[in-house]
Amino acid sequence: MEKQIYIFDTTLRDGEQSPGCSMNLAEKLEMARMLERLNVDVIEAGFPASSPEDFEAVEQIATTVKKPVVAALCRARKEEIHTTYEALKNAVHPRIHIVLATSDIHLEYKLRMTREEVLAATAESVAYAKSLCEDVQFAAEDATRSDREFLLQVFNTAVEHGAAAINITDTVGYSTPEEFADLVAYIRQHLSRPALISVHCHNDLGMGVANALAAIRAGADQIECTVNGIGERAGNAALEEIVMAIYTRRQHYQAFTCVATSLLYPASRTLSSIIGVPVPPNKAIVGANAFCHEAGIHQHGILANRQTYEIISPETVGVHQTQIVLGKHSGKHAFIERLEQLGYELTDLEVETAFEKFKELSDRKKNITDRDIEAIIRPMGHSVPEEYQLDSFVINCGTVISATAVMKLRHCGRELETVSRGNGPIFAAYRAINKLVRHDFFLDDYNIQSVTEGDDALGEVVVRIRDEHRTVTGRGLSPDILEASILAYLNAVNKAVARHGQEYGPAR
Ligand code: KIV
Ligand code: ZN
Repeated sequence: MEKQIYIFDTTLRDGEQSPGCSMNLAEKLEMARMLERLNVDVIEAGFPASSPEDFEAVEQIATTVKKPVVAALCRARKEEIHTTYEALKNAVHPRIHIVLATSDIHLEYKLRMTREEVLAATAESVAYAKSLCEDVQFAAEDATRSDREFLLQVFNTAVEHGAAAINITDTVGYSTPEEFADLVAYIRQHLSRPALISVHCHNDLGMGVANALAAIRAGADQIECTVNGIGERAGNAALEEIVMAIYTRRQHYQAFTCVATSLLYPASRTLSSIIGVPVPPNKAIVGANAFCHEAGIHQHGILANRQTYEIISPETVGVHQTQIVLGKHSGKHAFIERLEQLGYELTDLEVETAFEKFKELSDRKKNITDRDIEAIIRPMGHSVPEEYQLDSFVINCGTVISATAVMKLRHCGRELETVSRGNGPIFAAYRAINKLVRHDFFLDDYNIQSVTEGDDALGEVVVRIRDEHRTVTGRGLSPDILEASILAYLNAVNKAVARHGQEYGPAR
């Protein structure tokens, strides 16, 4: 009998808390909407007790998405459970997710608790959460390195006090598929009351997905995963890999998910654009090379019958290979139709802005491909107010002089202009912007790549800048790479200003 495997997405919690993957409120909401369209069963929206920003994000996601369960994480502490419930209470389907470690190493060095104390905290916290919210999930952190009998005792305590779901975690990515399947089967067999069995696998040994899939064969009901596999350290099991393994090997797993597979690629691109972390080209399912066939012998086979070298059709995951090329004379109707085919859903206002950008681009670039369109629309759902806008720039550089940038920005109806030097054109431009916004941002990371091939290709620059408050990511797009670099920096500055506006001021 085939069974449904529930997909519990933790991109906005485990993923978001990992280095370089943080998102602001608008970005989290955009991603949450994407996950709802993807039809995941549960969205873990954050850890409300960790900060007022996280609380607000969970609260807003809880009221925005309607179909999936909205979960939020907390430790086994009454005040955190209460805060979590406050953030979740307006959700159509709220779930409190309590976590408490069970391995001896965590008990001794992190929690400084005895096993008896852990059992008591499990009982008390689950009962309290249950008094607030019908749906409670209990996670045993570091479950795979815990003593089995004790782990079972903890899970039994949780289900006996009202937990509807238990979460078997491989927190440090230590397990192997055989061991993990064995553990899941053991817990399932001995659990004192029926409960949904969730698994949460990390990828430290590159076995996150394999462990999660092995757990399905051993009776797990729910898989916790993240888009593009982002997450603590080496990340979590990748959602798109789990979903497509189950989809492609349905007979083998005797299972299915309700995820809309044709939105896997758009979801991956949306996340990558929000956090500014590129997807490696060889990444399974969503990497740029996942459906490319380079070797002659492979191409020959593919031409004769795609199944010779393709186990998944690219369209199934939302990768459209028959590129319809749009150009200067393409109308709005064709543009909107293409957006829909690519799996993006934009508001009327966003369509207007995107179409304007498309027209601007078609003046500078002859053929506009799907990749170009995606690049134009990617920031739409999380665009920031453009407090500072680029008016114009002139940069002189070469090997015999230091670079000079003349930068003109627009700010609140005024023009701001300055000149700066630097030991390269980009550094000179970024210094000039710092001068105009009167704030010293430091450049932590700079990445450039071309969106498509050809000498009129769009250049996409992603920067990470930092000040005393936090790190922000910015993205810029232009056929001119210096312009793309400046737009990326300004995008990051505008994000920082939107958050901490009072700290910055324009040059007078
Ligand atoms: O890795 C882990 O154990 C977790 C828990 C908080 C579920 O992320
Ligand atoms: Zn985790």
